[in-house]
Amino acid sequence: MSLHVVLWMTSILCLLLAAWQKFCHSAPPWIKQLDSLGQPRKQKLSGTAIICGGSIAGLVTARICADHFERVVIIDPEVEDVKKAKTRIMQYNAAHGFLALFINGARRLWPTFDLEIKSAGGRTCAADMQLHYSGLPILAPYKKYPPGQLPDTPAIRRPTLQKVMHTLVVNDSTSNITIVPGTVRGVTACGDAAIQSVEVRHLDGTQTSLHDVGIVADCTGATQAGRKWLKAAGFTIPNNLHHSYNAQLRYITITFAVPPDLAAKLPIPEAQTQTSVVYLYVPHNEEGSSLVALFITDNDTMQLLIEDSYGAALPQTAVEIVPFITGFQGFDAPIRAWVMETIGFLCEHGNPSFDSLKISPQSYVQYHNLPPESLPSNFVALGDATLQLNPTFGHGFVKVMMNGLALNSLLHAVHPSVTGLPAGFSARYFQSIAPCMQALWDSTRLHDYGNPTCKPVEGETKDAGRFMRWFERRLLSAATQDEEVASVFGMFETCLQRTGHF
Ligand SMILES: Cc1cc2nc3c(=O)[nH]c(=O)nc-3n(C[C@H](O)[C@H](O)[C@H](O)COP(=O)(O)OP(=O)(O)OC[C@H]3O[C@@H](n4cnc5c(N)ncnc54)[C@H](O)[C@@H]3O)c2cc1C
Ligand SMILES: *[C@@H]1O[C@H](CO)[C@@H](O)[C@H](O)[C@H]1NC(C)=O
Ligand SMILES: *[C@@H]1O[C@H](CO)[C@@H](O)[C@H](O)[C@H]1NC(C)=O
Ligand SMILES: *[C@@H]1O[C@H](CO)[C@@H](O)[C@H](O)[C@H]1NC(C)=O
Repeated sequence: MSLHVVLWMTSILCLLLAAWQKFCHSAPPWIKQLDSLGQPRKQKLSGTAIICGGSIAGLVTARICADHFERVVIIDPEVEDVKKAKTRIMQYNAAHGFLALFINGARRLWPTFDLEIKSAGGRTCAADMQLHYSGLPILAPYKKYPPGQLPDTPAIRRPTLQKVMHTLVVNDSTSNITIVPGTVRGVTACGDAAIQSVEVRHLDGTQTSLHDVGIVADCTGATQAGRKWLKAAGFTIPNNLHHSYNAQLRYITITFAVPPDLAAKLPIPEAQTQTSVVYLYVPHNEEGSSLVALFITDNDTMQLLIEDSYGAALPQTAVEIVPFITGFQGFDAPIRAWVMETIGFLCEHGNPSFDSLKISPQSYVQYHNLPPESLPSNFVALGDATLQLNPTFGHGFVKVMMNGLALNSLLHAVHPSVTGLPAGFSARYFQSIAPCMQALWDSTRLHDYGNPTCKPVEGETKDAGRFMRWFERRLLSAATQDEEVASVFGMFETCLQRTGHF
């Protein structure tokens, strides 16, 4: 590359980084919103908060609504027995990482959160993903924090974390949360104003209506059932409210049993046993979308996550794992020898169990584009029920928390003398989450358009976002060569999550 191209690129990079740094240093909305999270209002709002879906979004929303409403009911067909594996959540057993804002929020909602994580066999560690791009490390932003104070995050399997949250919600004797095992079938509304009742089919097949509705929260995840309920109740829900594309990805999570005597034999350096991910490898591949990540999780387990495009023959048995990952290697530096050795050792002695998934399409129900009168005043949707992203970016739980923070703030803003929700509340909620949700949707979608197998949103071409992808690659390459760029890159990731802006 000629010198002037390098100089030109460097100056563009510096300019954009400077702009980003400035941008990122303005406080994102949730720094303030966090202050009122977990604070109950004095005069509760009348009616029951009906939470449809009892997974991550449902549990967080129920806890928040308990601060605002006289009663809270969680309806979910699989909510009764906390120990039973969830069959309706495709990714229940997939390896998960948790971003700092989610943990921050959870600690405010449940002051004993860390204790419960610990007693469930989990631990918290530095939120350092040990990211290696094409084999070269991209350092976590340690320098931006005082020594030892990088934000922390739990290293825990998703089912273990979900059980902790479930127990915290249902065992809370100070709040009025009850559980109804069943499926929400629809809602009825009075004119266009508000939802009046919620129809529930119980596990024995009988059907009942819940009245005295304060608020209805759609937390049904990928089902995104709310828009169907509203349509059936007579609201005008155009078909183009729902946007969808398919990143066409496969995910495989391999869980190993690693009792202490086996753990002692693994050649993992001490420092990497204390970070949230042991090692994360992203090949230098301008087109594909693949990664390998190794986690130390709760109760003497470890997880290996492999992601690739549809079509790639992901390993299905232990002996296929090491050859597959070897074939993945980029050209800047090979995956560290100790990582390959650890994986080989685990495949042989760690009793691997496989969880293989074809990721379903990404989708966004853009409720904020409806005219306010097309929404009943007391309807909200949180988590995947409104926006379901490419899981590679690990935003699922943090998105639930962002939605919860917005809802909590708006509920606190309802005047104390008012006992129900004011007209337009629903529209205000969707407007308030729209900038962040749209930014998450745009940045991840446009990234995915660089993948040759990705199928774009109807009416869009994959040319969209070309400059962004070019810049993203340059930034990643620069980050592997320069610690300051890397630290800004780390900040940039944090900033994306914090501000939701691109
Ligand atoms: C492979 C994969 C890996 C991921 N990795 C990460 C990660 O590392 N980090 C991260 O933060 N996120 C990750 N995510 C995203 C994260 O898993 C989701 O964002 C999260 O599960 C969303 O929670 P939710 O409560 O909105 O929906 P879900 O967890 O899908 O739960 C929906 C619930 O609604 C219930 N339900 C459905 N219909 C009805 C109805 N009609 N009535 C009553 N109940 C109903 C279901 O039974 C279920 O309990 C990943 C996703 C995938 C697919
Ligand atoms: C993990 O260990 C804890 C503490 O020893 C125990 O209470 C819990 O049941 C275990 N959980 C799993 C999923 O094995
Ligand atoms: C939750 O409450 C039940 C019933 O009161 C009790 O048996 C159980 O031990 C509690 N669980 C936790 C984790 O506190
Ligand atoms: C819970 O709701 C019931 C019935 O609606 C009510 O009698 C009770 O006082 C409430 N309890 C709390 C802790 O708010």
